[in-house]
Amino acid sequence: MASPTSSETGKMKRRSFYMQDASRKALLRLRVNGEISEVATEGTKTLLEVLREDLGLTGTKHGCELGECGTCTVLMDGEPVLSCLVLGAEAEDVDIVTIEGLMQGGQPHPLQKAFADLGATQCGYCIPGFLLTAKALLDSNPHPSRDEIREALSGNLCRCTGYTKILEAVELAARNQEVV
Ligand code: FES
Ligand code: FES
Repeated sequence: MASPTSSETGKMKRRSFYMQDASRKALLRLRVNGEISEVATEGTKTLLEVLREDLGLTGTKHGCELGECGTCTVLMDGEPVLSCLVLGAEAEDVDIVTIEGLMQGGQPHPLQKAFADLGATQCGYCIPGFLLTAKALLDSNPHPSRDEIREALSGNLCRCTGYTKILEAVELAARNQEVV
C-alpha cells in the first residue's frame, strides 16, 4: 500500500486531534466558492454542518447523514463528496464548491438552466446534490452517454421525479455547453 502523502498525514493528525476532545473548538480555514472563510467551530462537526450552521450555506441539504442519499453532495477539488461523511477539519486546503457557487458570471450554469427548462425538479430537495454531481461529470466527460450519466448519478436519490427528466436535463446541458 502506498504511504500517505504529507497532506494526507496532516489531515489524519488533525482528525485524530479533533476527535480526542469533542468540545474543543477548531479554527478552520476553508476555501468555499472561491472565498476564504475562517470559522471557529466544534472540531467534530461534519463539513455539512459547518457549511450550513457556521457559514450559512443552506443550499447543501441534510438528508440521511449516513452517506446513502447524496443530497449533501459538494465538490472538493472538483470531485463529488458526501459532506455528511467529511469532518470540516478535513476540508481545509481544498477548493470546495457548493450549490451557491454554481452560477457562472451571474448566469445560471447550463445544468441549472436545463433542469429548469425541462422541469426536472419537483420538491427540489435533492437537486443541489444532483447538479453538483452532474457538474463533476460534465467537467471530466463533456459528452457522457445516458448510461454514463445514470452511473454518475447513481448515488443521488430522488423521491419525486422518477429520474428520467433529470437524465434528460444532464444530456441537454451537455449539448448546450457545446454552444456556449
Ligand atoms: S445526507 Fe449525506 S448522503 Fe445523505
Ligand atoms: S425533486 Fe423531490 S426529492 Fe428530488
